[in-house]
Amino acid sequence: MTGAVLVTGAAGRLAAFVAEAFADRPVVPLGRTDLDITDPAAVGRVVAELRPGVIVNCASYNNVDGAEDEPAVALRINATGVRSLARAAQQCGATLVHYSTDFVFSGEASVPYDEGDEPAPRSAYAASKLLGEWYALDAPRAYVLRVESLFGCGPSWTGPRGTLDAMVAGLRAGRELQVFTDRMVSPSYMPDVARATRHLVDRQSPAGLYHCVNSGAASWKQVAEEAASVLGVVPRLLERTTAEVVLRAQRPTYCALSNRKLAMAGCEMPSWRDALRRWIEGASATSV
Ligand SMILES: NC(=O)c1ccc[n+]([C@@H]2O[C@H](COP(=O)([O-])OP(=O)(O)OC[C@H]3O[C@@H](n4cnc5c(N)ncnc54)[C@H](OP(=O)(O)O)[C@@H]3O)[C@@H](O)[C@H]2O)c1
Repeated sequence: MTGAVLVTGAAGRLAAFVAEAFADRPVVPLGRTDLDITDPAAVGRVVAELRPGVIVNCASYNNVDGAEDEPAVALRINATGVRSLARAAQQCGATLVHYSTDFVFSGEASVPYDEGDEPAPRSAYAASKLLGEWYALDAPRAYVLRVESLFGCGPSWTGPRGTLDAMVAGLRAGRELQVFTDRMVSPSYMPDVARATRHLVDRQSPAGLYHCVNSGAASWKQVAEEAASVLGVVPRLLERTTAEVVLRAQRPTYCALSNRKLAMAGCEMPSWRDALRRWIEGASATSV
């Protein structure tokens, strides 16, 4: 791999781990104030100046409920912003890495989704992310990694937390937690996602769409019970089904993804239980 690694949306959670995974290369992390990906001229200019070997797009509009009220904003960031990056990547010959979501599926499956399963987005957020996938894959060399339920923020993180990070904080504090008994997930440990990203880029694996989550599937209740067991605390869980909790945007109930294609590319993802334990016990090498 030659050239710098440009990380867009660099103030976000996953971006920090991506930057760390590529730390032995020149990394240029640009947050929204440095590069707004919805400004095509700025994207073209910055990429032409930097001529990166790899562009890793971590910029995203992730407010799932908010997107119902401002779908055009979500589309500008999650779709046309990605199109600008794909065009810029094409012009300078860079590899484009982009992240998408399990929410592109309807959630009606009963076994983990693979990359060949038909997406059926049920929300403005999900539709914007699916369109972003398509634009990203227009780049001559692109990896689109679908991740879900990202977790693993370090103690210094002060931004918004994902479900699992908030869950572990709640368990540590002895708070009662509302957990879904029927939403099935494959949580994604951010250092593992960053390592998989590096693997695909370094090995020049076949370009395309990859599911990139920790292996296995569990309900949020099972995840909470496992986290409590690792923490050595007795959880106070308020069990709910997804039907009992009405949210602004529709979300898939069954969200588990299969990593088979990633494994075929030589990148085995550890189980979510292993990742959870590494994170909680602080055994991970990462310091982010
Ligand atoms: N978090 C999850 O559980 C989850 C689940 C499925 C998929 N994903 C995907 O994984 C990727 C990383 O997620 P994450 O949780 O790390 O996201 P995040 O923490 O929300 O970070 C996203 C970053 O993008 C920035 N951004 C927003 N609009 C921008 C723009 N126009 N130009 C440049 N930067 C912009 C945000 O800046 P501001 O703070 O200023 O808005 C923020 O720093 C995303 O593609 C996301 O969709 C995440």
